Amino acid sequence: MAGRLQRPLVAVACLFLCCLVGVRCGPDPRLRKELMELEESMQTGGGMVLTEAEQRLDALLAKLKQDEMSRKDFPPSMHFFTARRLIQASPLFRLLQKMPKGGVLHVHDFAMVDVEWLVKNATYRPHCYMCFTDSASVRFVFASQGPKPLERCSAWVLLESLRSEAGNATDLDNSIRGNLTLFMDRDPEKEFPSQDVVWNRFEAAFGALWGLVTFAPVFRDYYIEALNQFYADNVMYLELRALLPQLYELDGSSHDRAWTLQAYQDLTKQFVSTHPDFYGARIIFTNHRHAKLSVVAAAVKEAMHLKKDFPDFLAGFDLVGREDQGRTLWYFRDALTLPAEKGVALPYFFHAGETDVEGTEVDQNLLDALLLNTSRIGHGFALQRHPVAKDLSRKRGVAVEVCPISNQVLKLVKDLRNHPAAALMMENHPLVISSDDPAMFGSCALSFDFYEAFVGFGGLKSHIGSLKQLAVNSIRFSSLTAKQQEEALVLWQRRWSEFVAEN
Ligand SMILES: *[C@@H]1O[C@H](CO)[C@@H](O)[C@H](O)[C@H]1NC(C)=O
Ligand SMILES: *[C@@H]1O[C@H](CO)[C@@H](O)[C@H](O)[C@H]1NC(C)=O
Ligand SMILES: *[C@@H]1O[C@H](CO)[C@@H](O)[C@H](O)[C@H]1NC(C)=O
Ligand SMILES: *[C@@H]1O[C@H](CO)[C@@H](O)[C@H](O)[C@H]1NC(C)=O
Ligand SMILES: [Zn+2]
Repeated sequence: MAGRLQRPLVAVACLFLCCLVGVRCGPDPRLRKELMELEESMQTGGGMVLTEAEQRLDALLAKLKQDEMSRKDFPPSMHFFTARRLIQASPLFRLLQKMPKGGVLHVHDFAMVDVEWLVKNATYRPHCYMCFTDSASVRFVFASQGPKPLERCSAWVLLESLRSEAGNATDLDNSIRGNLTLFMDRDPEKEFPSQDVVWNRFEAAFGALWGLVTFAPVFRDYYIEALNQFYADNVMYLELRALLPQLYELDGSSHDRAWTLQAYQDLTKQFVSTHPDFYGARIIFTNHRHAKLSVVAAAVKEAMHLKKDFPDFLAGFDLVGREDQGRTLWYFRDALTLPAEKGVALPYFFHAGETDVEGTEVDQNLLDALLLNTSRIGHGFALQRHPVAKDLSRKRGVAVEVCPISNQVLKLVKDLRNHPAAALMMENHPLVISSDDPAMFGSCALSFDFYEAFVGFGGLKSHIGSLKQLAVNSIRFSSLTAKQQEEALVLWQRRWSEFVAEN
């Protein structure tokens, strides 16, 4: 890079010199071109050498992107709930859907599958009870002997009866759907005026879907459905942040965490055996950051055990929940240093910097995540304000998991052209694109987030090399071993070449 920088810099120096001695001054078009090329070469994928076929596809991509940019209703500038329909109809989006995108490294266990599936499949199973809470939300449980009363939610009704009483279940199903996702047809800016409002609804939605997805039979089908949806979106690998809750059966009995992890592993193997071009999945065990120190310490110890029992399937550990309201990494430092003290390798994948408040203890999470040797940074929205953390992240190859739609819906950024990852992408900072909680945002799998990244903060300069680099990054920055990464890349490259040849 130094060598490449030198020539233009020497030229700039000459330019000044010429002005000093009174020679005719003016920007040198040759120098201008060189500087522009230099800048372009520094971006994500800027160093990619493209084949002829890739250059041909790039010309098509550039044209399609230009079409998107010249429309009055430019989707990345709008709230995703409003933009979704427009994006779906765009030819560029359809091309991105077909593109092999590599892995999804930041997605949460119970927000992966389109809620339509939960409404039409899960809640239509026998023995499904629903209850209205004091706060206008709902709870679900499957129980052969009828459910036990819950705190703040005691009047359970069998959904089957409720539906047959109603005759026409459309309204009921709509209200159930409304409780399980943030997505809505009404004006989202009015509905969610602040971060507090949207986060409350977000957490309420998790409360509502909890009893559905922790029912063991639904859990299994939900996970397979998730793999189906990601696979259909041309994603070949997942790293899934999972709470590993106790799953329950119809008779009220329940299973422990290891059982849940085993179920994930078995289902993944089963899926891979029938989808040989899908590489697999790994789990990042997560705990809520609202928990007390002792609870997180116990979770870290359990994670250490699980890592020993599932060395190739459990990737590591993370803390989840709203960063601005939860406890800081520094608060949990004694729990989080347990593995290092015991000489156990437990990789971390911390959410950090998912905030727009500067200078608080929470804002410190980014640097603390790096001090705790995090392998990647979830969101890193605040990274631009932390030059030291940013430098460390770059030098150590600690990739930032950028989730554009999540950041917009949860009100960190309004217009996705202004997402801070724009600058990260212009300097090829280690990063991947991910979707966080697609079902909560009315999104699906990964392509919508790729669209927002490529058309929104990628600007006109990002090109097919950028897309290729992002896909390669998602394997390079995964928790897979070097040998597995090579295997996955071979699989991906084959699909990529087909994609380039066919489009
Ligand atoms: C739900 O999906 C599962 C798995 O795809 C299927 O076997 C089952 O019949 C479906 N149930 C309902 C009620 O749609
Ligand atoms: C059920 O109700 C919805 C909305 O209330 C209506 O749009 C739909 O046509 C009704 N379906 C039937 C079969 O009556
Ligand atoms: C949640 O369900 C309740 C009960 O059916 C309903 O009154 C409420 O409007 C629903 N909430 C949303 C956000 O759809
Ligand atoms: C982080 O890595 C350094 C250097 O390898 C090590 O000394 C330190 O104990 C690690 N800290 C944690 C919390 O794992
Ligand atoms: Zn997340």
